[in-house]
Amino acid sequence: MGVPFDTTDGAIGSKFDIRPAASPTPQAERAEKLANPGFGRIFTDHMAVVRYSQGKGWHDAHVAARTNFSLDPAAAVLHYAQEIFEGLKAYKRDDGGVNLFRPDANARRFRNSAERMAMAPLPEPVFIEAVEQLVKIDRAWIPGGEGSLYLRPFMIANEVFLGVKPSADYIFAVIASPVGSYFKGGPAPVSIWVSETYTRAAVGGTGEVKCGGNYAASLRAQAEAIDRGCDQVVFLDAVERRYVEELGGMNIFFVFDDGSLMTPPLGAILPGITRDSIMALAREAGTPVREAHYTIDQWRTDAASGKLKEAFACGTAAVISPIGKVCSAHGDFSISGGAAGPVAMGLRKKLVDIQYGRATDTHGWIKQVF
Ligand SMILES: Cc1ncc(COP(=O)(O)O)c(C=O)c1O
Repeated sequence: MGVPFDTTDGAIGSKFDIRPAASPTPQAERAEKLANPGFGRIFTDHMAVVRYSQGKGWHDAHVAARTNFSLDPAAAVLHYAQEIFEGLKAYKRDDGGVNLFRPDANARRFRNSAERMAMAPLPEPVFIEAVEQLVKIDRAWIPGGEGSLYLRPFMIANEVFLGVKPSADYIFAVIASPVGSYFKGGPAPVSIWVSETYTRAAVGGTGEVKCGGNYAASLRAQAEAIDRGCDQVVFLDAVERRYVEELGGMNIFFVFDDGSLMTPPLGAILPGITRDSIMALAREAGTPVREAHYTIDQWRTDAASGKLKEAFACGTAAVISPIGKVCSAHGDFSISGGAAGPVAMGLRKKLVDIQYGRATDTHGWIKQVF
């Protein structure tokens, strides 16, 4: 790709310096926080950090107490948004062990994101090691039951310079947040708003990578969805404004009356790891799966005729969310009577059972930390 960075990890390999927090959260306080963690507001005691500078390459890999960064006001990330991130989870098995789900896929996507954003690509083994070391030291923070530990690796441009160019310095870090079951009482169908005013990304843009800027640009559309009484926004393609692409933070699938599945092709959307896993599980079960363009008009027509049986969104946070209702400036329509469909629920169970170690992992997707 011609990215001018030293991508070797020879300096650090798997040598993370582990410095346990001097005053971690007391057990009783942690238990209280874990009783009802919600999503993304509670954090564990530690963070993993690796630094990059053009002279030294990747260096100073460590795990230490979670703390603020000290950033110069001219740090590049604050001006030109050179930032990328990932999201994955650690799941507690019934036997007390801990699983990561496809961390290698997150590491690869993170590297692709770095290359697209002209950032120093983090070696994939270092990404995985950082995640594992954090899970190990903060193991006590992993909720039981249907909860999990959400892991947020990210990288920011840290060069102190106002010129518009790729930064020469970066900070990579991983933080962790215990999360409860996304849906209390089982997955409830979501309603989605079709954004006809705002688009998310165009082919050749940054839609295929996980950079913060994509999400900043999606917030106005998501706010519009909430104003319209919907849970989530769904974006159409940026050229013709007809083809369904993805939600603000999830990919989308359609289920037809012949039993087949369809999902929008890659190009301007995020290549979701849940999307990829669902395609693999469905194909293995003999279900035809197509990656094809689907217009909003066809969606409306197929929902009315009964050709479309179900639609669902998917991603790491919620796994699979059935879509019950679609709202737009041109009217609303519902899918499968607004109820959760059996295909979405069946796939969800298959995936969740693998993640929590209740079903055999025949794909090599699980990495046991303990
Ligand atoms: C825009 C977008 N699409 C799709 C996804 C689903 O990706 P994954 O299944 O890897 O979590 C996410 C979540 O990361 C996302 O932010």
